[in-house]
Amino acid sequence: MNTPAPFSGQFPRPDDDFSAAGIRSGLNTKVFGKTDLYFYDEIGSTNDRAMELAERHSPEGTIVIADSQSRGKGQMGRTWHSPRGTGIYLSMILRPAVPPRDALKITLLCAVAAAETLIQLTGLEVRIKWPNDIMVNGKKIAGILAEMNAGKNCVNYVIAGVGINVTTREEMFPEAIRNIATSVLIESGREISRAEMVRIFLEKFELRYLAFLRGESEGILARWKEYAGIMGENSSLV
Ligand code: BTN
Repeated sequence: MNTPAPFSGQFPRPDDDFSAAGIRSGLNTKVFGKTDLYFYDEIGSTNDRAMELAERHSPEGTIVIADSQSRGKGQMGRTWHSPRGTGIYLSMILRPAVPPRDALKITLLCAVAAAETLIQLTGLEVRIKWPNDIMVNGKKIAGILAEMNAGKNCVNYVIAGVGINVTTREEMFPEAIRNIATSVLIESGREISRAEMVRIFLEKFELRYLAFLRGESEGILARWKEYAGIMGENSSLV
């Protein structure tokens, strides 16, 4: 495991080159983020932007990342609080050649990749709460929002969005979620490079996604169940 720098008190971390070039440098994927990586200082929602790009035929593996979102979307119509310089707000365009019902597993792939990224970089005890809330010490540290455009039998595209609270301080969360939300900084006292976190996430996600496309999803589901072991109330449904 890497040993991240202790918290310097500066936001964002000065050596975190959180830009398209900074993220791409050292990115070890085949496709994801290699050519089409859109980076915004501020955007409404990276999922909405990725959807526009998908409608304009952007290819699989296109990534949209923002340093802040003004209308970040959460599950069930909720808002995803997305303050500048503190989180990862990332969306991926996927075009899986699988029936729509199988594409639902992509949310689980994302959750596993996000959980494993956090574990690798922080050593924190990370859990998945059904179906895809990423939790540390009973509080939510990351979330997944996958949106699908599909016909009866085929998927046109899936937008898989991931939000991770990295250097968010407690007082930055709206009061209403302060006791249920957390961040890497709050839990570990450490500042992780967001650029590195994005690279590791994309590498882990791509490997798992390619396995899923080959029909090898048992391993992924086993990992999901493992992480959901303590908190997943309905994990037998997977
Ligand atoms: C949840 O409610 O748990 C899902 C949160 C998903 C947030 C991410 S941030 C990047 C992407 N763009 C959005 O508008 N939402 C997702």
